[in-house]
Amino acid sequence: MIPDEIINQILDRTDIVEIISGYIPLKRAGRNFRANCPFHHEKTPSFMVSPDKQIFHCFGCAAGGNVFAFVMKYERLEFPEAVELMAAKAGIEIPRTQAANPGARSEAAKIHSANEAATHFYHYTLLKTDSANDAVSYLKKRGIKEETIKKLKLGYAPQGWDAFLNFAGKKGFDPGFLQRAGLTVTGKDGNSYDRFRHRVIFPIHDNKGKIVGFGARVLDEAFPKYVNSPQTPVYNKGNNLYGLNWTAQHIREKDSVIIVEGYMDFLMPFQAGVDNIVASLGTALTVEQVKLLKRFTKNIVMVFDPDTAGESASLRGLDIAVSESFNVKVAALPQGFDPDRMVREQGVEKFKECIDKSIDFFDYKYNVLKSKHKGSDINSKAKIAGEMLLTIAKVPNAVSRSEYVKKLAQYMDIDPQALWAEIKKIKPGQDTSTGVSLEISDSTPSSGVCINVAEKMLLGFALEDFSFIEQIRKHLNVRHSENDEFNILLGVVCDFWDQHKNINIGKLVNSIKDQRRCKIILDAYASTQEVTDKDKCFKDCIKNIKQTDLKFRLKALQAEIARAHDLKTDEESLNKLLSEYNGLIRQKTEV
Ligand code: CTP
Ligand code: MN
Repeated sequence: MIPDEIINQILDRTDIVEIISGYIPLKRAGRNFRANCPFHHEKTPSFMVSPDKQIFHCFGCAAGGNVFAFVMKYERLEFPEAVELMAAKAGIEIPRTQAANPGARSEAAKIHSANEAATHFYHYTLLKTDSANDAVSYLKKRGIKEETIKKLKLGYAPQGWDAFLNFAGKKGFDPGFLQRAGLTVTGKDGNSYDRFRHRVIFPIHDNKGKIVGFGARVLDEAFPKYVNSPQTPVYNKGNNLYGLNWTAQHIREKDSVIIVEGYMDFLMPFQAGVDNIVASLGTALTVEQVKLLKRFTKNIVMVFDPDTAGESASLRGLDIAVSESFNVKVAALPQGFDPDRMVREQGVEKFKECIDKSIDFFDYKYNVLKSKHKGSDINSKAKIAGEMLLTIAKVPNAVSRSEYVKKLAQYMDIDPQALWAEIKKIKPGQDTSTGVSLEISDSTPSSGVCINVAEKMLLGFALEDFSFIEQIRKHLNVRHSENDEFNILLGVVCDFWDQHKNINIGKLVNSIKDQRRCKIILDAYASTQEVTDKDKCFKDCIKNIKQTDLKFRLKALQAEIARAHDLKTDEESLNKLLSEYNGLIRQKTEV
């Protein structure tokens, strides 16, 4: 375990151009440097190094990453070895035996107690001060009861820049420490200010009940919707499940766990008595999260709202749970509902009905793929079979695996022998994100990518100039799904701008622990590098996304209208649907 701050110090004191030119000759090309790629055979240089962004990227073989990734790949080192090598070059000493170091342990303990103090401060502010009036009415409007506020220790971070900072100062926490604890941020003037301002606070507990971090929601529809604690010595977003500290015993008793995405999706069912539930706090479930559940149950019900259903992020979460030997079922909610809205508007019984109607992951994925690859031609068939086999290959138990192969053969009317031949070709671990090493794989299976080309390029622009972020928000503010990968990544990029006022991709990538996301960021950066007319390209991307969104909404509405016809719905509702449909058609011609 090498502390992040040491890694950042090394990155601060290292220049990727200097390091790489120690290995291969680099030639200047505009703001960047070029060379023949050392990782694949080529005659014309497609390997690029960016001094501004502190990364390398090969347009030929898609290798890329920060200085550690380069050294790991070139010298065939593991990450800690690469860090040691770079530390030595930069003249930085890595503290030995970090885990056993009492100083390090007390830092974690100190962060826990700072988080505890922060929780009390925000909770008190919410319940006892007038400054929280807006927050109180917001929570009331969303149907949250006072007893829930108390149980989950929800809070409110007041407006201004230093309310918490001052409070913590009186408790003896200094600004440098609060920054390491993730409770404050440093502005470009070098001063600290509160990370969470004018937001509702959700303290995140680990499964032992210690407060490890916070999520903070705006009171309106402003962006970003949530600000979260950064990675600290006690917090790593993908390592926790929100709510598990309150629900673990019930999960064990019921021998089943319901996994939802968001804070509110946890809170509303929980408040209404659904007590075997946790939230993954983002889209893709991680291996670490799933492993936390193993002690309590082997049965998972994943709840997807139909907007995310079928997106590769949700399917990947499914694969991860399957590969950890869980029995996985999927509950789909009606169009437009997430668990929070479902419980609030239709009542908890309706939500429970959806859970009871959940279907086996196999059938779920099969249905998703069937509607994605329409048609019965050989090509679509091969695609469906291929993607199903990727999941089946992850079933650890050989007997169940064989049953699934048989079932797939039956469903698709394919010879099981052919499926067995295909499944043997799948490498173990294919298409599963590990999120540990920084090395970026050369293979680029499209199944691992969960944002489209237009979104990727927009991210590329966002990395170049902050003004692009503002434009993206302005033009895409009506987008339906706030929690998709694109929005999450845009939020990450935006946070980085906020904190550093420029983008060093080497550091940005280092702060993202999910390897898949690192790869998307690097690809995004590379995707706009060769664009000459940036403004036009930017506009085209926006247009493309708007069109796709509209198409998606039109299709959903068409289905709804068809259903309304079948059910002989009253004329008024039907007319409402039709006029909505016409409105969308008009928008589509305007985009
Ligand atoms: N999330 C995040 N940062 C964002 C958006 C989302 O960390 N900018 C995480 C949060 O943990 C959030 C979850 O992803 O709870 C699901 O996102 P979303 O569905 O957009 O939010 P909801 O939980 O539905 O929030 P709300 O109902 O309050 O709008
Ligand atoms: Mn919601």
